[in-house]
Amino acid sequence: MIYFKNGEFLEEQQMNLSVNDRGYAFGDGVYEVIKVYDGVLYTAQEHLERLIESAEKIRMPLPYTIEQLTNIAQKLLTENQLSVGHIYLQVTRGVAPRAHQFPESDIPPVIIGYTVVNPRPVEHLKMGTAMKSVEDMRWLRCDIKSLNLLGNVLAKQEAIEHSCQEALFVRDGLVREGSASNVFGIKDGILHTHPANNFILNGITRRVVLQIAKDLAIPVVEKEFTLAEALAMDEFFFTSTNAEITPVITIDGKQIGEGVPGPLTRKLQSAFDGQIPMLVSAGNAKERESNGTAS
Ligand code: PDD
Repeated sequence: MIYFKNGEFLEEQQMNLSVNDRGYAFGDGVYEVIKVYDGVLYTAQEHLERLIESAEKIRMPLPYTIEQLTNIAQKLLTENQLSVGHIYLQVTRGVAPRAHQFPESDIPPVIIGYTVVNPRPVEHLKMGTAMKSVEDMRWLRCDIKSLNLLGNVLAKQEAIEHSCQEALFVRDGLVREGSASNVFGIKDGILHTHPANNFILNGITRRVVLQIAKDLAIPVVEKEFTLAEALAMDEFFFTSTNAEITPVITIDGKQIGEGVPGPLTRKLQSAFDGQIPMLVSAGNAKERESNGTAS
């Protein structure tokens, strides 16, 4: 596999990362995960804009333009012949002797990237999955895609230990987001989700879903709701780059709606699939097959 580090494409053994990297010592950096479908980057522009925004929010200048970052991502996926999976990009404040404050002299950030083979979670997308509520003990800048993920790590582990796929963060009695996803509820035909503020990461998939809802004339309310309100939703799902639109059929062991993925969730899923060229062509192939016209 080919990796990227500060302008070079390297083999793993050439990566040579420092123990004094501030990402390693402090989690002092930001990252992005960009989906690749059939060898094509998906919503890369939006992810890279967010990477630059996250870097600005932690006062770390990025010496790369969106165009350069796109070229890096593109070269990584081509070199590694990635078909379906994602590109991981990470930027840290650089290498300096360990001291909490920013290094005095200007040091270059360390940017690395690599590809991950990762098939679509088709079983979860079809059957739905379980969430476990967890107290949100993270900091107050969850809008930054920071490398500091300890709160997310502990929440996810707690969910897994309770046989749930994802954690549901609750802070001040209000449902915020998943450990690595955004959440949505549907009640009486209205789509509810948390507003994009400092308590959540404004997910790229979240934005795609909101655009789809607008296109389909599904009413949307971007306002906090409680855990009790979440449990009373007709449908529930979480979204992320890799999870896409994953239906949730139980929260804390309690059934949501009919306990199966609901009709509006299905509608949003199929509109989402309709935006991904690979899925559109696969769907067409299936249709041709069932019509007996497969070539
Ligand atoms: N996680 N909220 C949090 C806390 C996240 O970590 C993520 C993504 C999201 C969804 O964002 P998007 O739709 O842009 O993927 C929301 C990534 C995928 C990760 O950490 O692996």
